[in-house]
Amino acid sequence: PPGRLPVTGEAGRAEHQRFEEFYPEVQYEIHVKETKYRYHSQLPQETVWAYNGSIPGPTFIARAGVPAIVRFRNELPETHVGYGSPEISIHLHSGHVGPASDGFASDYYSAYKAGPTLSRPGAFLDYHYPNFPPNKDFREITGTLWYHDHREDYTAANVYRGLAGFYLGFDALDTGDETTGLKLPAGVGRYDIPLLLQDKRFDSGGNLFFDQLSPEGFLGNHFLVNGKVQPYFKVEGRKYRFRLLNGSMARYFEMYLADAGDRDQPFTFIGSDGNLLERPLTLKKILLGMAERADIIIDFSRFAPGTRLYLVNRMRQDDPRKPELQQLRPGIRMLRFEVGDKTEDRSVIPAFLRPLSPAPFNGSTRKRSWTFERTNGQWAINGKFFDHDRIDARPQQDVAEIWRMETKGGWAHPVHVHLDDFRILSYNGKPPPPEWAGRKDTISLLPGVTAEILVEFRDFNGRYMMHCHHHMHEDHAMMIRFDIQPTKP
Ligand code: C2O
Ligand code: CU
Repeated sequence: PPGRLPVTGEAGRAEHQRFEEFYPEVQYEIHVKETKYRYHSQLPQETVWAYNGSIPGPTFIARAGVPAIVRFRNELPETHVGYGSPEISIHLHSGHVGPASDGFASDYYSAYKAGPTLSRPGAFLDYHYPNFPPNKDFREITGTLWYHDHREDYTAANVYRGLAGFYLGFDALDTGDETTGLKLPAGVGRYDIPLLLQDKRFDSGGNLFFDQLSPEGFLGNHFLVNGKVQPYFKVEGRKYRFRLLNGSMARYFEMYLADAGDRDQPFTFIGSDGNLLERPLTLKKILLGMAERADIIIDFSRFAPGTRLYLVNRMRQDDPRKPELQQLRPGIRMLRFEVGDKTEDRSVIPAFLRPLSPAPFNGSTRKRSWTFERTNGQWAINGKFFDHDRIDARPQQDVAEIWRMETKGGWAHPVHVHLDDFRILSYNGKPPPPEWAGRKDTISLLPGVTAEILVEFRDFNGRYMMHCHHHMHEDHAMMIRFDIQPTKP
């Protein structure tokens, strides 16, 4: 076993003292820095902020049972031009991590300044990612995670400036190898491809534009995949796994696979935010609110070499506060596939993927209600705006609760709960559609929706957040703090 690594930094130290048994075996260092970048060869260079200077950030490959420490060095300039805040806080979205490593909104830092809930500035923080091994509930294994900035009031601007990346988790079933375990298409960057879906606005001179002050939200006029405007990808005639992530500020996507004649083609949906479903589904579309993920398999061997296919967004959205829920025809061809010759393919789409823990939640009587609404030009939960010092809920560790979520006023909110996955019990009084029937960490509350989710916080106690993942709503201040209370003193 690897030797113990030196750990410094406030968050890292605190986590280590508490979770000695998950002492990290792997250490990474990420430099968060300003760099020059072109979103398209025909567009001017932009000054972006990026993890290791890369857009999206480097993709982590995490192994269940191999804890990691990530040292995020903040090398952003103290003074800067344009929007965003150079003090950062990094959240591993869907990560089962301790509170000091969760990127709490007011735990932001730079060498010059510390957020109100940190004691002092620092050039880096160490984040402890336990990458828990599976247990009997299979709950800790979450396949397609991502990490992004979570700086209080500036999350939208900082993510828009480039601070987002993927974090993929593998284990004994989903091994990342086509000859073992489930034998899913594998090889990150080769046959297993994360796809960051975003929209961005460019002005008439082609320069990236952002309106930091708008609490309404912000829609782009160009569509990007992995930081490039409507790119193309040459694929072999075989199966690929794609991890789609809606990384937009305010835009909902409904993604289709279409051929050159705009006819929809089926794909295989294997997982959402909370990792693999029990069984694959054959779908022709998938709705993705901000922060939601879709893990899909496309078999290109069904198409003749030379075929062109497209990942198409058909969700019409004219208002940054809600999608129109109307189909756009033709839609936006966000990514073009160019199918090549058939190649050897040992990967399979198994009939059974991963058992879901039997709903352990029957009989839970603890309930809470959350109403998401617009008040005084901002966005509130139960009539209140986020305050990092105010504790809005104190759920008990290991005790399931039913949270009723309601959106008022005709707006839409993709709501994310930190730390533990939840299950959707009902959506407008009905069971969730099969693609939302697994574990989830974000629920798209479309206009007028009332839903019930079952949450249970098991791995840690302490301070976490629940919020709308429409980044402007979150910054304007649709977020709560909840503190998980230890069950045993
Ligand atoms: Cu992806 Cu609290 O966020
Ligand atoms: Cu919202």
